[in-house]
Amino acid sequence: MNDDVMRFVRESFPGLASEWAFFDNAGGSLTLARVADLVSDYLLHTNVQLGATYERSRMAAERVAGARERIARWIGAASAEEVVLGATSTLLLDTLARAMRERFEPGDEIVVTRAEHDANLEPWRRLEQDGAKLVFLDFDEQYTLTPDALRRVVSPRTRLVALTHVSNLFGTVHPLRELAEVAHRAGAEVVVDGVAYAPHRAVDVAAFGVDYYVFSLYKVYGPHHAVLWGRRDAMLALDPVSFVPRDRIPQKLEPGNVNYELTVGATGILDYLEELGRRASAATGESPIDSAAAITAAYAAIEAHEEAIGEPLLAWLRTRDDVRIIGASSMLDADRVPTISFVVKGRRSSDVVRAVERHRVAIRYGDFYARAPVDRLGLREQDGVVRVSMVHYNTPDEVDRVIAALDEALAEPLQSSSTP
Ligand SMILES: Cc1ncc(COP(=O)(O)O)c(C=O)c1O
Repeated sequence: MNDDVMRFVRESFPGLASEWAFFDNAGGSLTLARVADLVSDYLLHTNVQLGATYERSRMAAERVAGARERIARWIGAASAEEVVLGATSTLLLDTLARAMRERFEPGDEIVVTRAEHDANLEPWRRLEQDGAKLVFLDFDEQYTLTPDALRRVVSPRTRLVALTHVSNLFGTVHPLRELAEVAHRAGAEVVVDGVAYAPHRAVDVAAFGVDYYVFSLYKVYGPHHAVLWGRRDAMLALDPVSFVPRDRIPQKLEPGNVNYELTVGATGILDYLEELGRRASAATGESPIDSAAAITAAYAAIEAHEEAIGEPLLAWLRTRDDVRIIGASSMLDADRVPTISFVVKGRRSSDVVRAVERHRVAIRYGDFYARAPVDRLGLREQDGVVRVSMVHYNTPDEVDRVIAALDEALAEPLQSSSTP
C-alpha cells in the first residue's frame, strides 16, 4: 500500500492515534470510526422495536435486514437466510451444538483438532454426555492440519468434523477445501472456526466447500458481534433453539433476536473495504470498479501488505537460536497470516512481554484459549507463547519497533527465578 492508501487506512481507525503500537489484533482489532458512527446513528435515529407497522419501525427492520443481506453477499452466502448473527463465535458454536444435540447416537464420532481454540472444542465435548465420542486430529510438524492425517482418523461413524481455518497461535492457513472433501467423503458435516482467518483474507463460504463457518466481527474491525454461516439445507435440518418453527432460518438459531445496532454497524466494515479497494486500485492506475471487485482488490492489498510486514519479524526471529517459532517460519514459503507466536529458550513468555511493553508496544502472552495446542506442545510451564499479531493497519515502522523492543528484552540477563 502506498503512503496515501496507508494514511487512509490509519485515519480510519481513531484508536491508532496513540504512542502505542498495537499488535494484539488476534485478540481483537481496533474499531473503524465508520462502524462506531453507524452504531450511534442506528441507536439515535432508528432504535424502535422492529415488526410494527409504523414508519420508523419499518425503517429499522429494513436497515437490519439490509445489513444482513450485505453481510451475506460479503461472505459468498447464497442468501441472507444462511447468516446467523450472535454475540460471539463461542456462543454461536455453542448454539450450533445445541441444535445438533439430538442427532448423535452413542458411538457417533466427532473429529476435533489439537489446533482448536476452546470455542470450537468445548461445545462438542459437551455432546459426549449425549453419547458422542470425540476423536482428535493432530497437526503436523509444519503446524498444519493435513487431509492425509484427517483420512486416518475419520471412520464410518464420523458425523461431524470441527476444525479451525487458521489457528490463533500458528497463523497457518489449513487446506480447508481438501479437508472438507475428506470429511464429506466419510459422510460427515464440517464446521469451521474462521475467527483467525477473517481479519486477513476474504471469506468465501461457497468456495470453501464446508457446511458451517463462524467468525467474530470485532476482530475484523467491527463491533463486538459474530457471524455463523450455514448451508441452507444443513440449517433446515437443525433443531430450533428458539420458539419458532423449524423452517424459519436463521431465526430458529437466534433466540431473543439479534443486536440491531451492531448488525447495522457491521456494514461499516464493508464500506471501508470497498473504499480501501478503490483507493488501492487507483494507486496502481486501474479504473474504477464495482463493489465486489473493490472488496476483492482490498483483500489483495491487505494480503500483500501483511506479507511485507510479517516477513521482517519472522526473518529476525529466524536469526535467533534461542527462539522457537510456533508456526511456519516464513510468510513467503507457507500459506500463513501474520499472527506470529514464539517461545524463547529459558524465558517465560510473560517476562518477554512485560519487557517489550516498556517500549509502548502492545503484544501478549498466554494460551489465548487455544489450550489444546499449548498443552500438546508442552508450553504451559513457560506461560504459553509470546504472540505478535499484525493486521494491515500496522506499519513497517511499528514492526521495527517490535523488533528493537524484543532485541532489548532478549539481551536482558536471564533471572534464574523466572526461568521456566
Ligand atoms: C481462533 C478463535 N476462535 C474462536 C474465538 C472466540 O471468539 P469469540 O470471542 O467471538 O467467542 C477466538 C477468540 O479469540 C479465536 O481466536
